[in-house]
Amino acid sequence: MNADLFAKYDVAAPRYTSYPTVPYWADAGLSQDEWLPKVKYAFADDHHISLYIHLPFCESLCTYCGCNKHITKNHAVEHPYIDALLREWKMYRDALPGKPALRELHLGGGTPTFFQPEGLRYLLESILKDVEIPEHHDFGFEAHPWSATEEHLRVLYDLGFRRISIGVQDFDEDLMKLVNRRQTVESVVRCTEQARAIGYESVNYDLIFGLPKQTLAHIRNNAGFVARLKPDRIAFYSYAHVPWLKRSQCAYSEADLPTGADKRHLYEAGRFWFESSGYAEIGMDHFALPHDSLFKAMRNETLHRNFMGYTPYKTQLQIGLGASAISDAWDAFGQNEKDTAKYQKIVNEGRLPVFRGHLLTKEDQLLRRHILHLMTRFETSWSYDEAQEHVLEAAVARLEPLIADGLVAVKPFHIKVTNPGRNFLRNICMAFDAHYWKKQPEGKLFSQAV
Ligand SMILES: C[S@@+](CC[C@H](N)C(=O)[O-])C[C@H]1O[C@@H](n2cnc3c(N)ncnc32)[C@H](O)[C@@H]1O
Repeated sequence: MNADLFAKYDVAAPRYTSYPTVPYWADAGLSQDEWLPKVKYAFADDHHISLYIHLPFCESLCTYCGCNKHITKNHAVEHPYIDALLREWKMYRDALPGKPALRELHLGGGTPTFFQPEGLRYLLESILKDVEIPEHHDFGFEAHPWSATEEHLRVLYDLGFRRISIGVQDFDEDLMKLVNRRQTVESVVRCTEQARAIGYESVNYDLIFGLPKQTLAHIRNNAGFVARLKPDRIAFYSYAHVPWLKRSQCAYSEADLPTGADKRHLYEAGRFWFESSGYAEIGMDHFALPHDSLFKAMRNETLHRNFMGYTPYKTQLQIGLGASAISDAWDAFGQNEKDTAKYQKIVNEGRLPVFRGHLLTKEDQLLRRHILHLMTRFETSWSYDEAQEHVLEAAVARLEPLIADGLVAVKPFHIKVTNPGRNFLRNICMAFDAHYWKKQPEGKLFSQAV
């Protein structure tokens, strides 16, 4: 590991789940008159859709959490929220000509398993009766090991879910107490074993490196559990420290956070141990065993990345339902109202809750394609005609220091991320981020790249 390179490239950088990144979306709200034609146009491509459903409630606040959530112990919130989701879904169904084919379905949070299994069944049966399910599809959900019961797992399996993503973060119970997360090793083991016994085909663990007071010994301990419990996939996230956006991250001292080369060392050690257990690195921060669909998608060059992270399938239209959910109609993005009460009010008044968005220009679309290729394939190429485009010329010029540092290899009309360059994927993508270079952020927007 080259500490100088880490010091040089440890700048604030986006994670590129979209391009343009959310802070650079055009400011003006997106009206229904603008948004729905974009949705219909993307749907016309092949009638396949991905559906993300945001279930924002959590019973307690994990202080490290960067997600959009609503903390409550009051389960009376479940039914009105489900009714609002179904109203929002109906607005999309009424706008779409023909039955959508549901390629991908993901329940995210918050904590989806906050909801009672029967509520989830009602929500999903109401949606699934209205769609075709293609032979190749991917239905998954995020499970908090503390609240995911065997009944949750059975109900969702019966509805067609075959992938479960368990929020582990770290196996050390003391470390979890420090970030106010209620979790035991026993709960993770139970959830994994129940999922396997029921028939789930892919178990993912979310792990985080860079948590307060986390050391190499924690990463080794986590790798030991991974080697024993063998999840099919691992998301090994870099802790995103954004206290100006998430006040709860002020609950611990910044002096306890591993940073720079020390933090990256945690990732590299984790990668070494995961690879020793048979996992392959997929894109940025993800690992999978060779039988897993994410691994196969990487091999077949069909790997895709959207607001839900890495996925084996790409659809031209991704609809996000629920508070704060983001939809992607390929040449337009739209985000829903973030506040759960306001979201429900808007939907109950019969309006789509999209409050901001972005219409992608031709330039945006070109750059988006290259950033996506870098994120999923570690390389990208372009034609002679495209090479004349000013935005591409500018991106290639910005790569010069990264090329000089051996992080990117160039051939005519083609670049490839080198092995050491994989540690700096966010920095490499940044060279293609014309919006960022046009107007660099005045305040803090993004977490550190390393
Ligand atoms: C939408 S969250 C929901 C997880 C679920 N509620 C749970 O607690 O098990 C999905 C994942 O985002 C990751 N995450 C949340 N906050 C993060 C942060 N500040 N930095 C990096 N990853 C984070 C965690 O790994 C988490 O499992």
